[in-house]
Amino acid sequence: MTKTTIRIKQGYYRNFDCAGKVFELVKHYTPGVKGGFVTVRNDGAFPGYSDTVRINVANFTDYEFVGENAAPAVSEVVAKAKALSQNDDERIAEIAERFEILNDMSKACIAGEIRAMIVSGPPGVGKSYTVEREVEKAQLIDQLAGKRLRAEVVKGSATPIGLYQTLYKYSDKNCVLVFDDCDSILLDDVSLNLLKGALDSGKKRKISWLSESSALRREGIPDSFEFKGSVIFITNLKFDGMKSQKLRDHLDALQSRCHYLDLTLDTMRDKLLRIRQIAGTGDLFADYDFENGEDQEVIAFMERHQNRLREMSLRMATKIADLRKTFPAKWQALAQSTCMKMA
Ligand SMILES: Nc1ncnc2c1ncn2[C@@H]1O[C@H](COP(=O)(O)OP(=O)(O)OP(=O)(O)O)[C@@H](O)[C@H]1O
Ligand SMILES: [Mg+2]
Repeated sequence: MTKTTIRIKQGYYRNFDCAGKVFELVKHYTPGVKGGFVTVRNDGAFPGYSDTVRINVANFTDYEFVGENAAPAVSEVVAKAKALSQNDDERIAEIAERFEILNDMSKACIAGEIRAMIVSGPPGVGKSYTVEREVEKAQLIDQLAGKRLRAEVVKGSATPIGLYQTLYKYSDKNCVLVFDDCDSILLDDVSLNLLKGALDSGKKRKISWLSESSALRREGIPDSFEFKGSVIFITNLKFDGMKSQKLRDHLDALQSRCHYLDLTLDTMRDKLLRIRQIAGTGDLFADYDFENGEDQEVIAFMERHQNRLREMSLRMATKIADLRKTFPAKWQALAQSTCMKMA
């Protein structure tokens, strides 16, 4: 199973101060009646106590993931070596657990327990799907409780002033903004500075628009305000792998304000296993009425042609499943010409 390492920023186990201590994570943040806790492996840190212990922390922000922030070269080599030594079922369980973490962190973000997270992973593996599903669920529940979650998914690009306006519109406590594939925001100086203000770890998160703007005045938007909402970024960028120093410095500033979750599905095998995992839950091909093993045919086809497919992803699996369903006799030939690189 996964070995995720965390560092406690602020927290206690009984009377022991755990600040700065590093543990293997067993179960991430769980809210409790008497405050929340994170479950970790004892590993001799508290002699005489049980193998797993619950460290009392106020919320997700009181610990950080060490793996993601460790020197990338080392952590990646270790992760890859570990992945190779696992059998498929073990690796699938680990991948499932990563997405479980994404689920839980999305929930915490939506609930305002953590103010920001960055999710990074390759295309088509289910990042948007997972986050959006949690947002939709939360909207439903809040409506029932008579109180409304306000959420907006921003896709593609946004100008700095557009970003300022969006942040203003969703600046309340019960708001969550999802920036999905908005890498241009992450790469623009003015936008990034706005975000840094929005996500600062101080008590007050103040954002200002420094130049005079008639557009803002017209809309009745003040030139500075306090941001109390939460933000989720979804991106294909791998922050740790950035070569450009300027970009690195930029992203480091953001990363230090956010929880950063790298889904680590970097190898062909991992991507294939992710497809098998979701196919295995019955969700991936649920709409296709495949009854005679057509789903297995699709997966076997993808495995056979893994090096020629334009992309190895859930999205590609559904594209090929579309062909399988619509053209039972010649789906393979069609998939070859539409989903594959030329031989
Ligand atoms: N858990 C799931 N169950 C069923 N289908 C899923 C699941 N996760 C993702 N999918 C399907 O897989 C496809 C790709 O998912 P999604 O769009 O979330 O990928 P992504 O990681 O956001 O990709 P990109 O980086 O390109 O935006 C979608 O068609 C989605 O419906
Ligand atoms: Mg997406």
